[in-house]
Amino acid sequence: MAEKYEIRRFRAAEKAGAGYAWGTEWLRGVGVGFYDDRHKDEFVDKVLAMYRVDNREMTGVYQTGDVAAHSLASDVPVATFATLRKELNIGYGRQLPAHMVTAVTVRGTHRRQGLLRRMMTEDLTAARADGMAIAALTASEASIYGRFGYGVATFERSITVDTGPRFQLRHSATGRAEIADPRVLLDLAPEVFARVHRLTPGSLGRQEAYRQRVSGALSKDGTEDDGVKCALHYDADGTVDGYVSYKFAGWEAKPPTVKIVDLLAASDAAQLELWQFLGGIDLVERVSWQEAPVDDPLGWALEDPRCIEASDHRDMLWLRILDTEAALAARRYAADGTLVVRILDGLDLAGGTFELAVHDGGATVSRVEGDRAPDLVMDVAALGSIYLGGVCPVTLAAAGRISQPTEGAALTARRMFGVERAPHCLTHF
Ligand SMILES: CC(C)(COP(=O)(O)OP(=O)(O)OC[C@H]1O[C@@H](n2cnc3c(N)ncnc32)[C@H](O)[C@@H]1OP(=O)(O)O)[C@@H](O)C(=O)NCCC(=O)NCCS
Repeated sequence: MAEKYEIRRFRAAEKAGAGYAWGTEWLRGVGVGFYDDRHKDEFVDKVLAMYRVDNREMTGVYQTGDVAAHSLASDVPVATFATLRKELNIGYGRQLPAHMVTAVTVRGTHRRQGLLRRMMTEDLTAARADGMAIAALTASEASIYGRFGYGVATFERSITVDTGPRFQLRHSATGRAEIADPRVLLDLAPEVFARVHRLTPGSLGRQEAYRQRVSGALSKDGTEDDGVKCALHYDADGTVDGYVSYKFAGWEAKPPTVKIVDLLAASDAAQLELWQFLGGIDLVERVSWQEAPVDDPLGWALEDPRCIEASDHRDMLWLRILDTEAALAARRYAADGTLVVRILDGLDLAGGTFELAVHDGGATVSRVEGDRAPDLVMDVAALGSIYLGGVCPVTLAAAGRISQPTEGAALTARRMFGVERAPHCLTHF
C-alpha cells in the first residue's frame, strides 16, 4: 500500500494558502464518499472558513501513481478522515478534552485495502501520544468501529409529538417564550449551548457549523435557509436560557407539522416551556424531532405520554478510551468503592490492569503490575460504553462483553459509574 497511496494531513488555510486548494479537493473527496451533490464554490468557501474556526485537521489518502484516464484527478483523495477537539462533559460538570473523528470515507473503488484501518490506527496512536485520553465519533454503520476499540456511550431517538387537543403538560410556567428572528441565534446559540453543556453528561462542544445552521445562516447548499424559525425562552429574570429552532413542513404535510432543527434548554422548566410553546403553535398538530433524548422528561410531564411516538432508537456517541488511567482519574464517581479492572486493547493503547479506588467521589487510579486478580475484565470498547454511565455494566456482563471474576463487581461498577442525569450528546459531527 505504501507505494500506491500517500497520506497527507493538513488544516484549512485562507484562500492564498496551499491548504485551501487541498481543502477544496478534500471536500470533493468527502462528497464522493457520502454521495453528496457537487458542492458550489461558495459553499466550499464557507465550510473551509468554519473548519478554520474549529481548527479541524483533515487527512487525505492520495494515489501516487497515474490515475485512470478521465477518472478523478490524483489531488482528490480516495479516502478522507478529519479530527477536531472539543470538551466532553464526563459527569458532574467535569470536562475532558475529546479527540473527535469525522468525515470518514473510502472511495468505493479503493475499499477493503486497509485504508480505514491505516488512517484510524495512525490517528489514534498520534492522539494518544499527544496526551489525549479519549476519542469520539458518530457512526453511519454500527459494525465498523468496535474493532478499533470504540463503544457506544449514548443513544438518541426520533419522536413525533401529537400537539393536538390531547397535548397537555403538567407544568406551570415560570418563564416565557417569545418568537425571535432566527439570526439572533448566531450569537445566542453558543451562549445557551455553553450552559446546557455544563449541565449535561455526554455533551460535546459544538463545531462552528451549529450556530450557522440553527440560525438559518447556512443551509446544506451554502445558501441561507429562509425556512428556519425560532423561539427563545426567558427565565423569570428575563435571561435567555433556551431556544427552539424549527421549520414548518408546509401546508401539504398532513397533519400540519413543525420539525425541530435544534432545541436547547439550560433548565428543566425551560425545556418544558419550550414544549408548551411548540404544543401551542396554531394550526400545527404535530412536532417532530430527529435528535430527541431517549430518557426524556417530556413523556413524564405529559398528561397523555402516548402523545409521543418514538422510533429509531439508535446509538449516538461512540467513545474510544486512549488512556485508561487518565480517563478513569478524570471522572467523578457516584459511589465509593475499589475495583481492579483489566482492559484489553487490540491496538495496544489503553490496555493493562488498573486499580480504581474511589473515596468521596474522587478517584485514585494506579496501574497494577504483577498478577493481582482483576474484579472485572473487559475490552476497551466496553469501557468506552460504561464510561459515561449510559450503558449498564451488568447488561454488558450478561451479554458476555464484560467478565466478572469477582461476583457482583459489575453491579459495583454500575453504582460507581452513575452520573447526575441521563447522559445525552447534543452534538452531531
Ligand atoms: C466504512 C469504510 C470507511 C471502510 O473503509 P475501508 O478502507 O474499506 O476499510 P478497511 O479496508 O481499512 O477495513 C478495516 C476493517 O473494517 C471492516 N469493514 C470495513 N467496512 C465495513 C463495514 N461497512 N461494515 C463492517 N465492517 C467493515 C473490514 O472488514 C476490516 O476488518 P478487519 O481489519 O478486522 O479485517 C468505507 O467502506 C466507506 O467509506 N463507506 C462509506 C462511507 C461510510 O460509511 N463512512 C463511515 C462514516 S461514519
